[in-house]
Amino acid sequence: MMSQPPIISLKSVTFGYPDVRSLALDGVSLEVAAGEFVAVAGANGSGKSTLARLFNGLLLPGAGNVLIDGKNTRDRENLNHIRETVAMVFQNPESQIVAATVGDDIAFGLENLGLPAEQIGLRVQEAGCRFGLAGLLDREPHWLSGGQKQRTVLAGAVAMEPRVLVLDEPASMLDPCSRKEFMALVRDLWQDGTTVVYLSHDMDEVARAPRMIALSEGKVSFDGDPHDFFSREGLMAETNLRPPLAVRLSRFLASAGSKPPALTLAELVKRACA
Ligand SMILES: Nc1ncnc2c1ncn2[C@@H]1O[C@H](COP(=O)(O)OP(=O)(O)OP(=O)(O)O)[C@@H](O)[C@H]1O
Ligand SMILES: [Mg+2]
Repeated sequence: MMSQPPIISLKSVTFGYPDVRSLALDGVSLEVAAGEFVAVAGANGSGKSTLARLFNGLLLPGAGNVLIDGKNTRDRENLNHIRETVAMVFQNPESQIVAATVGDDIAFGLENLGLPAEQIGLRVQEAGCRFGLAGLLDREPHWLSGGQKQRTVLAGAVAMEPRVLVLDEPASMLDPCSRKEFMALVRDLWQDGTTVVYLSHDMDEVARAPRMIALSEGKVSFDGDPHDFFSREGLMAETNLRPPLAVRLSRFLASAGSKPPALTLAELVKRACA
């Protein structure tokens, strides 16, 4: 049986912004197979958003190549196919909502694809139901909550039926409850077969992914199972990120074993918080 080519493939990719001395990405190679869920972790300025923008040709590499579904982002004639394959959701929903109503916003990308009006209407209704926006389609996006706005953006991206969803800190402006809701929607999309690349500096989010890639200063410092990453303290220090609460607690409990035992839960909690 022939194995499927990766849906995303980066070969020795380097990217530098004009007039900036250091490289934003430096020799990044990675592959993502169709159907994977990959979290990309990295501190502020590590290169996550730059990487995301390379995935659909918004930025082109200085050196090396980005192949999406086998097609090089450098060739202009590939860009339509690439942008139909990879949909992006960014951090701030305000900057991504373009239309006067929720329904029109979901329809926006579909109109650009040139679909017949009837089909657009159908997909908007479907997306509305799926993302809990059915009763809000005529609403001005301005009046929505942050979580509803970001779900509108996600609905618009998903209505285009992309094979890959790239999400760049999509939940970082949401409250904890909307964040959970949003993550669950993304997980459902993945379970239905969409390839997901989830960029975040929130380690609690990253730790839930089956595979993580860590970026530090524009280089890939880890690519594998999050359990391996979080058991290597040196690696974690290199990425400059705070480990998830469960990891910190596990470490505390392991070190507590060598000390005289706490006699009450209150005492244990007091020590853990110190
Ligand atoms: N438009 C730009 N012009 C110049 N330099 C930029 C630009 N955008 C990003 N950079 C620089 O490139 C590097 C990587 O930035 P990038 O935005 O990709 O990081 P990030 O991991 O997404 O950070 P954050 O967590 O803050 O979103 C940083 O040093 C940043 O200052
Ligand atoms: Mg960013």
